[in-house]
Amino acid sequence: MMIEIKELTKKYRISRNNIVDAVNNLSFEIESGEVVTIIGPSGSGKSTLLNVLGGLDRDYDGEVRVDEKEIREYNSVFYRRNIVGTIFQQFYLIPALSVAENIGLPSYFADRSAKKAMQDKVNYLLDRVNLTDRKNHKPKELSGGQAQRVAIARALLAEPKILLADEPTGNLDSKTGKEIMGLLLEINREMKTTLLIVTHDTELIVGAKRRIFLKDGKLDKSRNK
Ligand SMILES: Nc1ncnc2c1ncn2[C@@H]1O[C@H](COP(=O)(O)OP(=O)(O)OP(=O)(O)O)[C@@H](O)[C@H]1O
Ligand SMILES: [Mg+2]
Repeated sequence: MMIEIKELTKKYRISRNNIVDAVNNLSFEIESGEVVTIIGPSGSGKSTLLNVLGGLDRDYDGEVRVDEKEIREYNSVFYRRNIVGTIFQQFYLIPALSVAENIGLPSYFADRSAKKAMQDKVNYLLDRVNLTDRKNHKPKELSGGQAQRVAIARALLAEPKILLADEPTGNLDSKTGKEIMGLLLEINREMKTTLLIVTHDTELIVGAKRRIFLKDGKLDKSRNK
């Protein structure tokens, strides 16, 4: 099993007597290469779950294993760079950098041989997300769909095994949203990247074989078959 979530609980302490159970004793498994959509109302714990899986939040109870190893046992930088890639509703591109520089940012910190390989990868990814003709544009000169394609290419630079997407189409019109979903599904097929997509847009989940419904930080028993 590629991802094993066992009795995951995440509490936020708001004040001495006020604790929010954002994720509450959640368990499920995901196989390598699967496409899974996570659906649930606002506040049901979707982003909290994705932050844990993305290695951004290591303060939780229970166990989350990726390739048999608990996430907290990985070097966190290695985990976030090589095991998972993440994209968000807000694209979080760096405004001062061009499209190509945003995608290839880690190459500026790499040694000479790694740099060359990464630059080649940037060119491949630019072509793959169909942005070669925009590679010198700055983020503010892009449409929303183009900006999300930059974020997808950036997330794929290190060829992560898992791609996490938190409302990736939330800032896009429905036609562009469908194109982005189509691109993510193509990437899953071509690169065998395991794909977890958080959404509350049920229109977008047609291509996903597996849906996991959350409610109040738990599996929604009435909607999960
Ligand atoms: N940093 C935080 N501090 C305190 N409470 C938080 C924090 N982040 C999230 N929560 C609470 O945890 C619960 C789950 O939040 P989460 O962001 O995971 O929901 P979500 O399903 O992603 O919602 P949305 O669809 O609105 O993005 C909510 O009740 C929220 O108020
Ligand atoms: Mg959220």
